[in-house]
Amino acid sequence: MAGRIPESFIDELMARVDIVEVIDARVPLRKTGKEYAACCPFHDEKTASFTVSPTKQFFHCFGCGAHGSAIGFLMDYEHLDFVSCVEELASRVGMEVPREGADDSPGDSVSRSLYPLLEKISAHYQAQLRDSEHAPQAVDYLKLRGLSGEIAARFGIGFAAPGWRNVLDGFGVDQAHVDWLKLAGMVIENDQGKVYDRFRERVMFPIRDRRGRVIGFGGRVLGDDTPKYLNSPETPVFHKGRELYGLYEACLAERKLERLLVVEGYMDVVALAQAGLSAVVATLGTATTTEHLQLLFRVTPEVVFSFDGDRAGRDAAWKALLTSLPHLQAGRQIRLLMLPDGEDPDTLVRKEGADAFRARMAKATPLSEYYFAHLCADLDMQSMDGRARLVELARPHIALLPPGAFRELMLARLAEVSGLQLDKLEALLRGDKPPERATRPVRRAAQRPISSQQVMTPMRRAIAILIQNPHLSQKVGDVESLRNLPIAGIDLLLQLIEVTRNSPTLTTGGLLERWRDSEQVKHLSVLAQHDLVVSEDVLEDELAGALEILQKQGQKSVIDALLDKASRNELNSAEKRELARHLSSQR
Ligand code: UTP
Ligand code: MN
Repeated sequence: MAGRIPESFIDELMARVDIVEVIDARVPLRKTGKEYAACCPFHDEKTASFTVSPTKQFFHCFGCGAHGSAIGFLMDYEHLDFVSCVEELASRVGMEVPREGADDSPGDSVSRSLYPLLEKISAHYQAQLRDSEHAPQAVDYLKLRGLSGEIAARFGIGFAAPGWRNVLDGFGVDQAHVDWLKLAGMVIENDQGKVYDRFRERVMFPIRDRRGRVIGFGGRVLGDDTPKYLNSPETPVFHKGRELYGLYEACLAERKLERLLVVEGYMDVVALAQAGLSAVVATLGTATTTEHLQLLFRVTPEVVFSFDGDRAGRDAAWKALLTSLPHLQAGRQIRLLMLPDGEDPDTLVRKEGADAFRARMAKATPLSEYYFAHLCADLDMQSMDGRARLVELARPHIALLPPGAFRELMLARLAEVSGLQLDKLEALLRGDKPPERATRPVRRAAQRPISSQQVMTPMRRAIAILIQNPHLSQKVGDVESLRNLPIAGIDLLLQLIEVTRNSPTLTTGGLLERWRDSEQVKHLSVLAQHDLVVSEDVLEDELAGALEILQKQGQKSVIDALLDKASRNELNSAEKRELARHLSSQR
């Protein structure tokens, strides 16, 4: 792992990212006055108690107590670690995450060498599509497949000219570069130690990661040779099961992806883009993985999988469906689009046109429907045996579903189809605990907001006002006299005042990030959610009042302690002077 991410970067990231956009892309929000609301994605509810404040850059659920900044939301919602969330948000706003210190592991420096190398090779392939003496056959092939120059350019499509050493000679300028080429899978070393280009005489599709960096290639033959496609092998920067071809291009084309279509092949993605459907990605010839689903639901609430209508396609659809079950949280939807036998999205869209294809997508089968149709197909639903069998088959699948509306719907459907009463079904399922990873952890849910009955001490009140209204620290006078007063929380209060004065742009969410790794974040985040009740124009006075009480309270305990000592005749001369000073200032 590379060095630490500097605090100043997190501050700036928090200033640029909008929590409303981040959450709305995953959980559609509704505007309610100054804030936004939705049904909480972290617990099951029917009325919206989940609120997001654009001014505070903070979310908070009255129901379950979940709360935090944009980073915290992503961590909980996407099950990602802190660093991944920072990288995710940074890439959304076009920032590069810097690292403190140079204690990079060898792995990081290798990756750093591979990215620019692959980028240059991709540019080389693109240039070859214009300049190579063999280019015309590649260009003709792409035209034959209906692609325009514009689409070819959007996807960075290129051409690997015939020959065994084009990339090797062009980029293997020294041994280190040859080693990188090998690591990147661009050249192959055979048993005799002979090194040669992996991709020869193929149309080249660069595979880009979420941030647009070239991480590998797929290459197609121009004719009917085999293998039809050759792909980069697993490398330090390319992991097939974790990438989706076309995701970067889709995100570029549409800022807000209402849904994404998942297809099988490179050509399907490109042909649909050519027809004007740009929200399309392809799994790279592999089955759909959990990583794919995480990636998909990070950018869209709805996924439509397309599959061939043949036996293999139906098997693949069922597998994808089962992999998807644990990901079906509130607000997410999956549908399946089964294509006519012998067609793929490329052939279909070219035959029928974009509108007909869109109409097919609109009619794609919801996962729940597909699920029951598939299970019931092999059962005799007229017989009791068949219906009992259905319940047995469905039990482990329903146990995979995270709690929420979708699970309820599946249960209701199962009750309906099996004829078993819903409460009996639920009792049966109570024994089937969902596995750990299937449930969404609400890590901080236990810390509920302070209830109105709970005591709001002046310290809590001052901190709550400040963390929710950081700009007010500019109005607070000198706080030096508060330092060292024996009141619990005084250090936190003074730190908060200092940070908000030095970094006036920090919002509530940004401030909480400053304290993320400290013990005190618990207290701070509870206070960030506390309902201050009073209207905003009196908050400044409230804060001043709370600080004044603290000042007096602190002074009183100092005086009491000194007087106590005095009564035992234990005061030294410095303490006597201090007591005198306090007593006179108190008057
Ligand atoms: P298809 O054979 O369906 O590809 O394989 P396609 O995109 O429709 O190919 P065209 O239309 O004939 O050009 C789907 C995907 O499976 C992987 C590729 O990622 C391909 O896009 N594949 C297929 C391979 O990796 N190698 C192969 O030999 C074939
Ligand atoms: Mn095809």
